[in-house]
This record gives sequence, structure tokens and C-alpha cells, in this order.
Amino acid sequence: MRLPGFVVATAAAAATVFVALVEAQDTSIIRGDGPPAPSLTRTAALGSWTPKASSDGLTKPSLTGMGRTIYINSASDFCLLMPPDPTTQNLVDAEAIATSYCINPINGTRPMPDGLIKTAHFRRTPEYVQISGTYDPAVMNLGSNDCGGEYDSEGAEGVGNPVGVTMRNGSYFSQFMGACDIPGSPVFCLRMCPSYEYCRNTFDLMGCLWTQPGDYDQPQAFTNCDANADLPTGVYNSSYTFSQGMSVTPPPVTAPASSNCKTVASPTASGVTYSWNQVAAASPAASSTSKSNGGSSGSTSGSSSGGGSKSGAASALGPVNVYALGVTVLLGVVAGGALLV
Ligand SMILES: *[C@@H]1O[C@H](CO)[C@@H](O)[C@H](O)[C@H]1NC(C)=O
Ligand SMILES: *[C@@H]1O[C@H](CO)[C@@H](O)[C@H](O)[C@H]1NC(C)=O
Ligand SMILES: *[C@@H]1O[C@H](CO)[C@@H](O)[C@H](O)[C@H]1NC(C)=O
Repeated sequence: MRLPGFVVATAAAAATVFVALVEAQDTSIIRGDGPPAPSLTRTAALGSWTPKASSDGLTKPSLTGMGRTIYINSASDFCLLMPPDPTTQNLVDAEAIATSYCINPINGTRPMPDGLIKTAHFRRTPEYVQISGTYDPAVMNLGSNDCGGEYDSEGAEGVGNPVGVTMRNGSYFSQFMGACDIPGSPVFCLRMCPSYEYCRNTFDLMGCLWTQPGDYDQPQAFTNCDANADLPTGVYNSSYTFSQGMSVTPPPVTAPASSNCKTVASPTASGVTYSWNQVAAASPAASSTSKSNGGSSGSTSGSSSGGGSKSGAASALGPVNVYALGVTVLLGVVAGGALLV
């Protein structure tokens, strides 16, 4: 199944900022559905950020760190797992090898690039803490129609996806990041739980809106809320629990009630812009993303190698959000007219 015609260009907005800085790039290597692959191979960063001296005895954060510690403190302070080198890796490619990007990086993690997080909503519930929101894929050279991947505390071998992830706020976690839940508005979500049933990794194709109902569509808002947890993931009532793979997928449950919501300021800019953002944002072709290359590296959770050349198309074959796919297909036909299924 391929979705080549469905394109929403979000990269264009940032396109002018870094034009003056762009280096020569070879447009003949453009591939995939995402922004053109930069010719750069280095992963150096631009900006004024310097790591704080670490006083906790742990590895210092750095722009090239490979730390896999994740935390959620608030809407303006959390981490997300993402590819260490998004010039060659999609979200799904990086499931086993992702590194942690944090707003206040710790323990060998990297700083979150400025401009990535557009909105973020924090929920503290009795059963989990959760952060959800929208992001600008161009900032991490991620495809604007990359359906993304799922990272969790178990992975195929029970050692985490990525391997060796360390959680500060729970014993289990699940993170989705991708552009197919809400076409044109890529979303992320990260939930950490003390117990497994609210952070199950058995819904790895279902996406944010289905597995982590919350606040996704409040433009430009950063909020911290208390919230109910309601029932464990997949449980609808005492007589019906959905398992991924059942022939009928029920709609997502309504987001649990929230309270004490406070709007907070967006995270303070750190000055970090990774070079892949510079190249992707400066590319005039970044909004023309419907090319495909027949990539086939898509895979289910836990079986990706992380190697090989990047293919935005591959992600449509990977952990596609099966609930949202119906929505995507519908809108894709209307908006794109070029959808092949
Ligand atoms: C720091 O990261 C290492 C691996 O990179 C991990 O083993 C360790 O548990 C982490 N420590 C803390 C306190 O997060
Ligand atoms: C997450 O864990 C850290 C370290 O234990 C803690 O300081 C922080 O308050 C926790 N976050 C939330 C939202 O409870
Ligand atoms: C349980 O939830 C399912 C799915 O929403 C619904 O179809 C069914 O009627 C519910 N059953 C009860 C007893 O509430």
C-alpha cells in the first residue's frame, strides 16, 4: 500500500530562514517522500548552545550524544526519541537505535532543536504521565507524510525499542511520532506508566490519537493539566477489549476529563539547529514531496536495522496507524486525487 499522492507541505514555512547558510547539495540524490535528502553526512549542529556542566556524575549532554534517557516534566520540559541521523534514517528505521532529544538534555542526550515542537500538552493522571502535541517535521528532516514509528519499553527482545532506554517517570513507556494521524499536522505522544496496562506495546500500529487520547488540536498552546486515566489502553468496557489485529477497529475512546489546566510559555529557544534542518529548510523542493523510490525498508516494531538509505515511502509500509489510515485515505482521495491503495 502506498500513499504517494498525499502530501501536505509543512516544511515551506521555515524555508527562508537558512537560505544564506546552505551548502552545495546534490539534488540528484533526492529520494523518498520526505524533504530531499541532504548531501551532508556529518551531523554537526549550528547554534549557540553549549552543554551545561553536569553535576550529577552522568554523561554530559552533547549535540552528538547517543543517550537514551527520557523524562516528562511538563509541556515545556520533556524528551522525545528520534533518529540519531535523520539524513539516513526515518522514524521507523530508528526504532532500535533512536537517541533522546530533550528540552533540558541530561545523561548523554541531545538538545531538542528549536522549532521542532509546535504545541505540547502535558497530562498528569493517576496511572501515567503523558505529553502530546504537534511538530514541524522539517526541523528533523522527517517526511511531512512519514507515518512514523512507535518506540516502547519492550521492543522485540524485551529490552526496549530503542535498546536500553532509561525512563525517569515510569517502568513502561510508549511513544508515537508521525504524520498520518492528522493529515497535515504531524503529531507526537509519549506516555510513561508505572504499570504496563496503560503503556502496552501491543498497539504499535495504532498511533497517537488511538492509544494516547489527549489534547492534540489546540494550535500554538502549551498546557499542563491534571487528568483522569479512565480505562487501560484497549479496554472499552467490561465486555469489550480491543486487540490490535481484530477485524473491526473501534474509534478512539474520548480523551479522559482534564482539570487544572494551565497555559504555559513555549520552551525557551536553546539556539540549537541541526545541520539536517538547515539543509532541509533551505531546499526549495522541500514542499514537493510526492516522489517515491520504491523503498522497502518499512518494518514492524523491533525489526528495523536502521541502516540503508532513507526512504520516506517506506514508512507508509511500516507501523501505519490503522485507525487513522481510513481517515488519511478518505482525505487523500479528496485532497490529492493521486492516491494509490
Ligand atoms: C544514563 O544513561 C545510561 C546509558 O546511556 C543508562 O544506563 C543509565 O541508567 C542512565 N542513568 C540515569 C540516571 O538516567
Ligand atoms: C519525572 O521524573 C523526574 C526525576 O525523577 C522528576 O523530577 C519529575 O518530577 C518527574 N516528572 C513528573 C511529571 O512527575
Ligand atoms: C462496549 O464497548 C463497545 C465498543 O464501544 C460497544 O459496542 C458495546 O456496546 C459496549 N458494551 C457495553 C455493555 O457497554
